[in-house]
Amino acid sequence: MSDVEKTEFSLPEGLLNRGGQGRDDDAAVDAREQVDDRDIEKTLRPKALEEFIGQPKVREQLDLVLTGAKRRGVTPDHILLSGPPGLGKTTLAMIISQELGTSLRMTSGPALERAGDLAAMLSNIMEGDVLFIDEIHRIARPAEEMLYMAMEDFRIDVIVGKGPGATSIPLEIPPFTLVGATTRAGMLTGPLRDRFGFTAQMEFYEVEDLTRVVTRAASILGVSIDNDAAVEIASRSRGTPRIANRLLRRVRDWAEVNGDGHVDIPAAQAALRVFDVDELGLDRLDRAVLGSLIKGHGGGPVGVNTLAIAVGEEPGTVEEVCEPYLVRAGLMSRTGRGRVATAAAWHHLGLTPPPEAPGQLNFR
Ligand SMILES: Nc1ncnc2c1ncn2[C@@H]1O[C@H](COP(=O)(O)OP(=O)(O)O)[C@@H](O)[C@H]1O
Ligand SMILES: [Mg+2]
Repeated sequence: MSDVEKTEFSLPEGLLNRGGQGRDDDAAVDAREQVDDRDIEKTLRPKALEEFIGQPKVREQLDLVLTGAKRRGVTPDHILLSGPPGLGKTTLAMIISQELGTSLRMTSGPALERAGDLAAMLSNIMEGDVLFIDEIHRIARPAEEMLYMAMEDFRIDVIVGKGPGATSIPLEIPPFTLVGATTRAGMLTGPLRDRFGFTAQMEFYEVEDLTRVVTRAASILGVSIDNDAAVEIASRSRGTPRIANRLLRRVRDWAEVNGDGHVDIPAAQAALRVFDVDELGLDRLDRAVLGSLIKGHGGGPVGVNTLAIAVGEEPGTVEEVCEPYLVRAGLMSRTGRGRVATAAAWHHLGLTPPPEAPGQLNFR
């Protein structure tokens, strides 16, 4: 068993995802899905950069950073992975440590409440290790300040004792690579952002790449699937591999219950109807947000907090999970005065847009 898997198994469930905010966060997904699905997620994670589908730019950049460092025999610069949930940030962190042949230590911003939490993590680090901090934008201030020093000088000051008698003891940390993941790069403080040598901006996946994700997952899971059915699932996956894998599993359930398990177009379409995924891949929350924007607020502009209250979600979830895809799909635009529904969004809900609705149609 590799170090990566060991680390992953030994982490208490709540630790990584404490304060998990999104529908597509591992915690939220885990709570909803059956236990076998969780094991499946693990078997579906690509283990090497070569197996990682799509994101050509990020892959090329990362390959350069890792290969360059390996050639020089040094630990690579700290790496920030930024993008919406389910695009492969955790997977990439595991791949980075795998490619470097070092072990991966995982924690998350919300788990680092006190500087001591981070000091405990850092004091266990071995030379060349990858320290993965998920949701790094949620790290508490004192831990963040300790992290600056660790990232830059590979040294921290541990405070021992309290009050006037407190002393600070310097502690050397072996060179390591910090990999941070965030769904909200904008929420990172300047000093923290500046300490990363490289930021990988993850983008939503093209349908062709998601089709490869579905086909790969089907072959790992032993699901027989027609190519056009794989395309159908891919095109309804909100540009997100995690969703593509999940929809494939739901479609497989449908095909096993209603047929011989083979997945063809009618099976895919029928299953996606059962699970409330529409032709654009929007789920119930996406549609609720659009519905509130259009039916409740005449298409906007309206603030994100108002929208979130209307659909009964955290503003962070609406902002990090729903909006990026609605914007990318050309259904919503973010303006200085608030969110606005595009003409395409009105049409999607079967309504006639008012003349002032922005008309851009980015969706392919
Ligand atoms: N490029 C990819 N190729 C194949 N599968 C992927 C890819 N990126 C993500 N996945 C799949 O999607 C799931 C979610 O990815 P994950 O790394 O957990 O996303 P994030 O950390 O960004 O939320 C993984 O279990 C993996 O199976
Ligand atoms: Mg993750």
